Amino acid sequence: MTGRIRRAQGADWAICRALVPEACGRTDCPIEGLILHPEAGPRVGGAAVLRFDGQDAWLGLTVVPPVRRLGLGSYVLEAAVEAALAGGARRMVTACDTLAEPAAAPFLEKHGFAAVTRITTFEAKFPACGQPLLRVRDELVARNRVPRDWVLTTLAHVPLEAVGRLFAEYIAQREDLAEAPLRLDREGGRYDTSPVILESGRPVGALVAEKRADIWHVEGRFVVRGHQSGVANAMLLGLAVDLAMEHKASIILFESRDDNRDTLKLARRMNARPLRVKTRFELALY
Ligand SMILES: CC(C)(COP(=O)(O)OP(=O)(O)OC[C@H]1O[C@@H](n2cnc3c(N)ncnc32)[C@H](O)[C@@H]1OP(=O)(O)O)[C@@H](O)C(=O)NCCC(=O)NCCS
Repeated sequence: MTGRIRRAQGADWAICRALVPEACGRTDCPIEGLILHPEAGPRVGGAAVLRFDGQDAWLGLTVVPPVRRLGLGSYVLEAAVEAALAGGARRMVTACDTLAEPAAAPFLEKHGFAAVTRITTFEAKFPACGQPLLRVRDELVARNRVPRDWVLTTLAHVPLEAVGRLFAEYIAQREDLAEAPLRLDREGGRYDTSPVILESGRPVGALVAEKRADIWHVEGRFVVRGHQSGVANAMLLGLAVDLAMEHKASIILFESRDDNRDTLKLARRMNARPLRVKTRFELALY
């Protein structure tokens, strides 16, 4: 099936916001919308939104369920590629939760997109998920593997700048975290319960976690070079479990790229289940 595609204007943006809300969020770059009117069925069959950011055109595309698998998604995508080229883009980029949208990967890959990064958000339940972590930590302590000059504390008790700088360096090496809403500030004590390791007063590792009601969201974990033997991670995680239990957390959320073997192993140990898989797809336009 085909239909008619026209450029969004005026009140059409309400349709775009309803169908592709994630693509309409940013207002700091040029944006273009396409509305699909199928030749049969609902009046509006779908929409595509392109946000132009340098040489990238970010795509959001949805076809409404009653008219899926009729070729309309491909038809709109073709029009979106033309619009992206006309707008001067060299690459098309899109990201979506491929767990919630199982059609996205087969559809995009059929059209030449490649999945470049996959970040899974895991959910695990306290207190059960903490037990394996506490066992590892307690074993290391019993075997005297923890350096004597380490002090385990929380972000509330260390100079924020020092941890913030290390965390910024960590984020800078992780392209996938470029959009992470990370601001290490003391506002509302957001990150105060994050475990930190100090060595002679200097932070050498931290697990940055935000507590929202009874949910703990781990936004990142870093350990400086020279301390990456696993002891620091085990100590941070052990303290995180102590703190989560003390603060009556019932759920922990954390992210892992699909090439981060350590965190994936941890997720298995904690019996964590995948909640979202944010996959970034790219298509070179020429
Ligand atoms: C992904 C989406 C846009 C596809 O729209 P559509 O109109 O159903 O797509 P098409 O009919 O043009 O499908 C083209 C091809 O994509 C693949 N495809 C589409 N949906 C699929 C599905 N559910 N399972 C497996 N393959 C699928 C097939 O190869 C299909 O060809 P075929 O029907 O001849 O087998 C639609 O399912 C949707 O809106 N999903 C929710 C939002 C989303 O995931 N957007 C994509 C990321 S921006």
